[in-house]
Amino acid sequence: RERTYIMVKPDGVQRGLVGEIISRFEKRGFKLIAAKLASPPKEQLEKHYADLSSKPFFPGLIKYMLSGPVFALVFEGLDAVKTGRVMLGATNPLQSAAGTIRGDYALAVGRNICHGSDTVENAEKEIALWFPEGIVQYSLLQESMIFE
Ligand code: GTP
Ligand code: MG
Repeated sequence: RERTYIMVKPDGVQRGLVGEIISRFEKRGFKLIAAKLASPPKEQLEKHYADLSSKPFFPGLIKYMLSGPVFALVFEGLDAVKTGRVMLGATNPLQSAAGTIRGDYALAVGRNICHGSDTVENAEKEIALWFPEGIVQYSLLQESMIFE
C-alpha cells in the first residue's frame, strides 16, 4: 500500500487548519500512520526542499517554513501520492480548484498551507527524513469498506 508525506506548513498551523487537513484525508479513506508537531532545524528544511535550492524563491521559502512549527503527517492508501496532490490542489492557490485544500484556504503561492510528496520515491525519502524514529504499524478494521 502506497504512503505519502503530508505536511501542514507554518501558515496552516497558525490558521488552525491541522484538524481540517487530517479530517479530509481520514474521510477520504486514508490511514493515518504518523503525526507530530515539529520545529525542524533549517538544515532539515533545506534537505526537504533540496531540489529547489537554485530557485530565486528558495531563501524566502526556507524563511517561511521556519516561521513556526509544522505538522508532519504520513497517510497510507490507494494511490496515496497522486491522490494526496489532487487533494492539496495546484501549487499556486490562484490556480487551485475549489474543493482542494489550497483552493479553499489559500491565495498566495508563498503561503499555500500544505506540502504533499510528488513521487513515490520522494515520499519514502521524506518519510525517512521526517520520521527517522519509524512508524507505528496497525491494520484498519474497516479496510474492506474502503478497498475492493
Ligand atoms: P510542496 O508540496 O510544498 O512541495 O509544493 P509543490 O510540490 O506543489 O511545489 P514545489 O515543490 O515546486 O514548490 C515548493 C514550494 O515552494 C511551494 O509549495 C511554494 O510554497 C513554494 N514556491 C514554489 N514556486 C514558487 C514561486 O514561484 N514563488 C514563491 N514565492 N514560492 C514558490
Ligand atoms: Mg514539491
